[in-house]
Amino acid sequence: MIADRAQGGGAPAAGERSGPGGSRLRVRTVEILPGEVVLIDQLALPQEERYVRCQSWQQVAARITDMTVRGAPAIGVTAAGGLALAAAAAAAASPIDQAAFRAALEQAASGLLATRPTAVNLRWAVDEMRLVWSACDEPAAACAALLLARAQAILNDDIARCLRIGEHGSALFKAGDTILTHCNAGALATAGYGTALGVVRAASARHGGISVLVDETRPWLQGARLTAWELGVEGIPYRLISDNMAGHFIQRGAVDGVVVGADRIAANGDTANKIGTYTVSVLAKEHGVPFFVAAPLSTVDLTVGSGAGIPIEERSEAEVTSFHGRQVAPEGARAHHPAFDVTPAANIAAIVTEAGVLRAPFARSLAVACATGKCES
Ligand code: MRU
Repeated sequence: MIADRAQGGGAPAAGERSGPGGSRLRVRTVEILPGEVVLIDQLALPQEERYVRCQSWQQVAARITDMTVRGAPAIGVTAAGGLALAAAAAAAASPIDQAAFRAALEQAASGLLATRPTAVNLRWAVDEMRLVWSACDEPAAACAALLLARAQAILNDDIARCLRIGEHGSALFKAGDTILTHCNAGALATAGYGTALGVVRAASARHGGISVLVDETRPWLQGARLTAWELGVEGIPYRLISDNMAGHFIQRGAVDGVVVGADRIAANGDTANKIGTYTVSVLAKEHGVPFFVAAPLSTVDLTVGSGAGIPIEERSEAEVTSFHGRQVAPEGARAHHPAFDVTPAANIAAIVTEAGVLRAPFARSLAVACATGKCES
């Protein structure tokens, strides 16, 4: 793990770049290059901005598992890059027939799918890549080139979706609003613009005067480490709060709306997101504050009827008994660590997608949106 990181070293090509539509993208979360997938190291942020270079699908899988890259859309895009690497490696092992080429890709797909269970974008991206390799009748090298192009297209497409989410979601806010967010659903959690933070960025650009309350998001501190860093890079004013302060600020009328991302949205609108999201949704409901979910349609899983069917990742107890690597609980203390929880559709005012702002009943609005876009089905 350390060796991979050491390989990474400095930035691949620092500085601002333009995304679809000429938007400014200051954070490069994932780059998919011939023979290489480059990831910003989210374990090193915010202290250090460094990059990890992966040259095999196994290295990509390891970086998803250890959360060097995290966030549902970013995981999906990175897995697509991993499959492009698997295809290039299989094609280089000559001679290879079509059956062996496809078997190598299925093996890589299983390995990548086993990394993290909750974010459905991972399965969505693998399915998109499978459509390419199962339809390709060319020699392996030509199929590998098609798979690289598809992975790069999935990456660019994710940025374009997030920009549309931002555009739609910005209309839900007005100048001077304070938005509370949980976890990190920003550029770092996607291919480069963000879902919930995409809404914040777009609202800030459109209205001005937007400020953000950032839940620190125990135990991984995605809010304190990543969202705070991103908002700093963007120059959007924010205050960091510990998770148990959210109720206080919502009760005092200091929050105009909540926007969070999603790891999987069931057909009825129940939404799995970072542990603690459900709590915030209950607080918002109690105080009449609108609670919005922002996510691309690749996060919608029509094969799951309700939140009860969403698998919840269990992570290590040590991540709870320690704080940022330092043991805080007594030696031997036991802990629970579900990494996600499910917010019932009834607590959600709207789901903001690239297809527009969806309202209840979500079973219908999601079905309509999925007929135009492409959900997991
Ligand atoms: O465990 P993580 O950091 O991968 O969890 C991330 C989240 O829960 C995000 O809110 C979600 O993936 C949406 S990202 C646009």
